Amino acid sequence: MYKAPRGTADILPEEQSYWRFAESRATDLCRLYGYQRLDTPAFEDFQLFTRSIGEGTDIVTKEMYTFEDRSGNVLALRPEGTAPVCRAYLEHGMDNLPQPVKLYYLAAIFRYERPQSGRYRQHYQFGFEAVGDSDPALDAEVIDMAWQFYSSLGLKNLFLLINSIGCKKCRPRYLDNLKIYYSDHLVGLCPDCKSRFEKNPLRLLDCKKSSCYGMAEKAPKSIDFLCRECLAHFQAVVGYLEALKLPFKLNHRLVRGLDYYTKTVFEIQPPGEAAQSALGGGGRYDDLIQELGGKPTPAIGFAAGLERVVLNLKKQKIVVPDLTATPVFIAHLGNEAKLEAMKLARTLRDNGIAAIMATGDRSLKGQLRLANSLCSNYAAIIGDNEVKSGVVTLRNMMTGEQETLAATALVKLLKEGT
Ligand code: HAM
Repeated sequence: MYKAPRGTADILPEEQSYWRFAESRATDLCRLYGYQRLDTPAFEDFQLFTRSIGEGTDIVTKEMYTFEDRSGNVLALRPEGTAPVCRAYLEHGMDNLPQPVKLYYLAAIFRYERPQSGRYRQHYQFGFEAVGDSDPALDAEVIDMAWQFYSSLGLKNLFLLINSIGCKKCRPRYLDNLKIYYSDHLVGLCPDCKSRFEKNPLRLLDCKKSSCYGMAEKAPKSIDFLCRECLAHFQAVVGYLEALKLPFKLNHRLVRGLDYYTKTVFEIQPPGEAAQSALGGGGRYDDLIQELGGKPTPAIGFAAGLERVVLNLKKQKIVVPDLTATPVFIAHLGNEAKLEAMKLARTLRDNGIAAIMATGDRSLKGQLRLANSLCSNYAAIIGDNEVKSGVVTLRNMMTGEQETLAATALVKLLKEGT
């Protein structure tokens, strides 16, 4: 028996109402904030990701699904959505449009991670990017939009964490200070952090191991090393967030796992869980477009993991709209009746009424039993008598009451009832 590959999951019919609910809230929100949808391919040139996410990151060193196609092109399944959006922005000359260009996506993302609750090798993200504006008001708007996404789903007691990790100018001095601090504590670090110390010292701050946590808590804070421009930007963002009354908390350990971030970073965490369960995260990436060959173009964005959204909708017992249609079940007896049943199914569907016609060779009793287990409210029954008189018997499956009527009257009655 084949099974879905490790770290992937089927989204079964009974789960779909949660997914459609999350997606519909996401698309409603994008309309309200003026974002347009962009779909990019599931795979890209693998260098697009190494250049943007960063050579020393976990995603690039351990998690990418990289492959060579039959022509020798080296490609990667997208491990995130921001770099593809930037690639498309440049490729389609969107820098000529009024800025910022606001784009969103709902897409499958691929990362070879160790699977656990809420962590998959294929997951789905709802993400949005505002490209071409450095105004701190845009940071606040993007953070607000991310927060409103979860609020519109009814999720409660979430944490909104923010930080600023500075820019090319001020970050080197911060990293020097971080390394000086950690060089005195190297022996106590976990093996991963020992290698982070060399390759990516910023990531020392978000190690989840208890041995490293205490050290990170006491480490120098990026916020104390910001240049004048980054500090003014951060203060402005905080001012706007306060004006919007968003319940944010400054967390100096928040650094994010991708290298392209500058200035503002933020994350949304569920209640009472470890940091690896983030519901979503984002930040500014003012150098990325230039890094990919464009002119200097500031940008900011966010992405939410939809599996984690669904997990939390269930945990918080949020009732989502039931999408299951309760089709009219059409039962029939005899060959002529079967033909009439097919025609009736077509008439009902033409009138926007969901219908399921019995197939196979069940008895009438068997067909009605099936109608019951499919939760149909009504069964339309056609037998010899009905064929002869050109009518249908409609059975109310709840009460067992039956009435006989013509197809047109049946349509009218069912339409009124929906
Ligand atoms: P990220 O934090 O790597 O950011 O991923 C965004 C969200 O995707 C996470 O907060 C989490 O909810 C979900 N996620 C990540 N990995 C997994 C996984 N293995 N299984 C299930 N869910 C997962 C980015 O990808 C950035 N591109 C976000 C961004 C957009 N920054 C600026 N613009």
